[in-house]
Amino acid sequence: MPNILEIVQPDDWHIHFREGDMLEMVTNYSSRINNRCVAMPNTKVPIIDSNKAILYKNKINEASKDKFEPLIPCYLTESLDINDFKAGIQNNSFFGAKLYPSNATTNSKYGVRQISNIYNLFEILEEENSPLLIHGEKVSDKIDIFDREKYFIDDELKVIREKFPLLKIVLEHVSTAYGVKYIKQNKNIAGTITPHHMLLTKKDVFFNDKIDPHHFCMPVVKDESDLIELRNAACFDNTKFFLGTDSAPHPIEEKKNNVNSRPGIFSAPCSIELYTQIFDQENALNNLEVFSSINGAAFYNFSPNDKKIKLEKKDWIVPEFSVYKNIKVKNFYANKKINWKVIN
Ligand code: NCD
Ligand code: ZN
Repeated sequence: MPNILEIVQPDDWHIHFREGDMLEMVTNYSSRINNRCVAMPNTKVPIIDSNKAILYKNKINEASKDKFEPLIPCYLTESLDINDFKAGIQNNSFFGAKLYPSNATTNSKYGVRQISNIYNLFEILEEENSPLLIHGEKVSDKIDIFDREKYFIDDELKVIREKFPLLKIVLEHVSTAYGVKYIKQNKNIAGTITPHHMLLTKKDVFFNDKIDPHHFCMPVVKDESDLIELRNAACFDNTKFFLGTDSAPHPIEEKKNNVNSRPGIFSAPCSIELYTQIFDQENALNNLEVFSSINGAAFYNFSPNDKKIKLEKKDWIVPEFSVYKNIKVKNFYANKKINWKVIN
């Protein structure tokens, strides 16, 4: 097996940049590896109009030294300005739209309570062939946290799929075998898969009455049977699945070891290396490039990137923290060994 692997430059189809110093730090990490990235719009003030999308794109561009293309979906709410939404989709200020069910995750309180209230927005997306990115979890007191994805698929996604058959949908950070199966069996739908959902199970998060806040994310990681299906989908059956890290940093002060902790795992310092290690463990290194750099671009009607990146098989230890100006974030895989490293 060669020690050097060269792949077409990846894109990260789901990443959180945040604002201010955090945005600068994340941009440094992400632009080192990726060409395009979908920058999630759940900022403190969410990106609900095209002007905010343009300003946000500019901020990320200013922070990046390398050529780098942030794509900003519109944060869907039940009270958007429809004319601005349509114009923003048409003139590419928005890269499609992101559906957060209300209170499903970090900064989702302005999200959607009743999905049928935004069918007019789905119509616009379908007409414009613009993608709908979905945080696919149904939140209710009656639904176990581990079953949220399944309930979303059964109660919401199936209805959307039937009503808008041509709408291009991405079920983001798919976390269950059930979700993988749904994506494979349905048209015009793809899924992103994070490294952490292919590395962790619920045992790594919940212990008695405590949690590990740095392994706590939405959707929460599930069972080993789910992890295995996600690995199979990414590594072997991967025309409908592509890279989306869902790297979501929170300063260490905001990570408490109980369920009031902010959900989100920060993998940007090592995500491509983790994906590579996973594909290597699965004897599927030959399929890494299609997952990291081809399928997502194809689904979204882009050409693959021109440049290439190189990875070398060599051990390194992920530092415990990322520190930048006044910010300190605990890295995913902190203090652990990875056996691939990007080289320039
Ligand atoms: C994300 C965040 O922190 O913004 N958190 C997470 O657990 N994944 C939001 C999200 O994508 O759900
Ligand atoms: Zn996310």
